[in-house]
Amino acid sequence: MTESSSFYVTTPIYYVNSQPHLGHAYTTIAADVIARFQRLEGKDLFFLTGTDEHGTNIANAAEKAGMPVKEFVDANSQRFRDLIPVIDADPTFFIRTTDPEHIARVQTILAKLHENGDIYSGTYSGPYCTACEAYYNEGDLLEGELCPTHKRPTTILDETNWFFRLSAYEDKLKAWYAEQPDFVKPRTRFNEALSFIEGGLDDLSISRSSITWGVPLPWDSEQVTYVWIDALFNYYNGLGYANGIDQTDKFWPPDLQILAKDILKFHAVIWPALLMAAGLELPKQLYIHGYLLMGGDKMSKTQGNVFDPFPVIEQHGADPVRFYVLREVQFGQDGTVSQEGFEQRYTSELANDLGNLVSRSVAMALKYLDAAAVPVAPSDTQLSNSVAAAVATWREQMQRYELTAALETAWTVVRALNKHVEDRAPWQLAKDEAKRDELTATLAELVEGMLQVAMMLSPYMPQSSKRIANAFAVSVESLHGHAWGDAAGNTISAVEPMFPRLDLAVR
Ligand code: MSP
Repeated sequence: MTESSSFYVTTPIYYVNSQPHLGHAYTTIAADVIARFQRLEGKDLFFLTGTDEHGTNIANAAEKAGMPVKEFVDANSQRFRDLIPVIDADPTFFIRTTDPEHIARVQTILAKLHENGDIYSGTYSGPYCTACEAYYNEGDLLEGELCPTHKRPTTILDETNWFFRLSAYEDKLKAWYAEQPDFVKPRTRFNEALSFIEGGLDDLSISRSSITWGVPLPWDSEQVTYVWIDALFNYYNGLGYANGIDQTDKFWPPDLQILAKDILKFHAVIWPALLMAAGLELPKQLYIHGYLLMGGDKMSKTQGNVFDPFPVIEQHGADPVRFYVLREVQFGQDGTVSQEGFEQRYTSELANDLGNLVSRSVAMALKYLDAAAVPVAPSDTQLSNSVAAAVATWREQMQRYELTAALETAWTVVRALNKHVEDRAPWQLAKDEAKRDELTATLAELVEGMLQVAMMLSPYMPQSSKRIANAFAVSVESLHGHAWGDAAGNTISAVEPMFPRLDLAVR
């Protein structure tokens, strides 16, 4: 199989009835890191994110806010859009399920499923959680008829509506899972999704007559589309009209869809079945990350372990927060983030390990080298070989979306370079004219090593990488193809301290 030159990555589209928080930012940051890596790899890239704006919850939230629902979703969607530059993400398009182009496309697809007999009229009665926008089986409820996810009371919803023949796709889904062992990552989530399917699939109600805030069914004006069906098709529809061009042929199917485990079943069971019914190709992979734990009973602001990234970003830019969430929490697993944890990593890893390395290396290069130009770095040294090996490992990890592991690999090089400085002690070498060559070689290796670090960190910390690269007159765009020794002759210029002391008034 030839490697594709395009890459399509998505995040879930976020509900507009909540304020954007670090949890939403986390998924978008992870997708952005992968998107930036794929761009570096030369891929033609499409990165889609956006907002999910229909359904009962949103209609209720608008009512509670005393606002007309369209005004409410416009204002709240804008908050999610505003988050994007704040976290320095760079999506290709921001989709809204209230976009008329999306609505029209949902209707076209559903009309096709209806014509094909995949959608039929039926009656359903069962416990329903409005927060999930989903029916439950009696057996899945907690004591007191509570929703197992929200621990809130469910209500019996009794509706005549339209059903999708999900049950008819059970065998096809099993076959798909058997053929595609990497369809869902990590493996535990693959197994979880497969066991949903093996547990048997009931047909799914895909319309609601109880509300009007949704996409009207083209053949039944009394009913609107169930919000999840409307929402899932965003991933397909967005390519059709983003930025005024149809790029479906170029990018469909998605290479990677990122989400957290809360919405696994929708993406790993219902979504592929809908695509099969619509005759569309299935995504190549779903990557399910864990939860950032930052609220809840045990943690509170007074204990100082709730992490609010926004004041930090305002003072120090997005890089430290992008770094922190991917470093602290193993990508794919749950993990706690806290103000204290952030401060620790900021100080020990960003300010001390990386920031000091950069500032002292640049300072020494400027002080000890003639003409402030990068000398030719010796190749095939222990350092150059270990950096090359680390870069190779990093690339493989990035290709497998092992974002935390790849960041650690980059950090092994940061530590190796600090050790190189300590071991070689350029300030000692500088005292002895006979050691001039050794001094020059030491500093040249340091510069080339730092450029490889800047390359590996660039998807995670684009601004910091750019500053490192620019200190040695290398453009951030050329970092990826930068070979050891390529900076020879480049001018070195001073850098501002990269990670100044934290001074967060919000404590
Ligand atoms: N609108 C649906 C998704 C439809 S996609 C076709 C939805 N929206 S949501 O606003 O609730 O966003 C859920 C997603 O936000 C999670 O799957 C995850 O990607 C992200 N996260 C929200 N809170 C999070 C954490 N605390 N930790 C990690 N991810 C978090 O579900």
